[in-house]
Amino acid sequence: MRKIVDIGILVSGSGSNFQSIIDQIEQGNLDASIKVVVSNNPDAYALERAKKHNIPAVVIDHNNFNDRNEFDQEMIDVLNSYSVELVIMAGFMRILTPLFIKAFPMRIMNIHPAILPSFQGIHAQERAFDYGVKFSGCSVHFADEGVDTGPVIIQSVVPVYNDDTAETLQQRILREEHRIFPQAIQFYAEGKLEIIGRKVIVKDHKRIDETPLHNPPLTKF
Ligand code: GAR
Repeated sequence: MRKIVDIGILVSGSGSNFQSIIDQIEQGNLDASIKVVVSNNPDAYALERAKKHNIPAVVIDHNNFNDRNEFDQEMIDVLNSYSVELVIMAGFMRILTPLFIKAFPMRIMNIHPAILPSFQGIHAQERAFDYGVKFSGCSVHFADEGVDTGPVIIQSVVPVYNDDTAETLQQRILREEHRIFPQAIQFYAEGKLEIIGRKVIVKDHKRIDETPLHNPPLTKF
């Protein structure tokens, strides 16, 4: 039987990843139901998206709390009041406390705009670009108590071109984020994710071809 997973979404900004999840649910590709979206930023455009799709939205402004634990406890209470099973960090720009992580053990997914463990933390796309990498990409992972350190579920790799800017690279990565995040949630909904230590085993997926990529392409060897 098809299982619908009840999700809660944490946002801070534009919410384009949030939108991709909405779209995939509406198109019948993603077996999830968005119970609530929580924003720490009262001005986040993601809140407009929630309104447009009749999704309950709650603003919890971190500036109104004395410490991180108090703020996280409020988020836990709201998510639990909507019976959220899986928490989705869709461009949520706050570091979660151990209190929050323990409230949803291996039930929090984050999207990070780099190939982890490279470029953990903020401004990942810009730092990858400035570093001069030839490939970058994005990762969906379960959140643990570190910053972008939890077990990786799925990654997508994109090339960096000579005429890129940090912005064009960011856009290329974002397009892939919009694909792998709904996919990771769908794997979860289908009961396909098994966590063994640091490793997430995605059950019964096709093996990808062993095709090394080179950027720039090899001309001789
Ligand atoms: C996305 O690129 C996401 O990977 C990144 O913020 C952007 C949010 O965009 N998240 C992080 O950097 C987390 N450290 P969105 O609001 O349009 O989904």
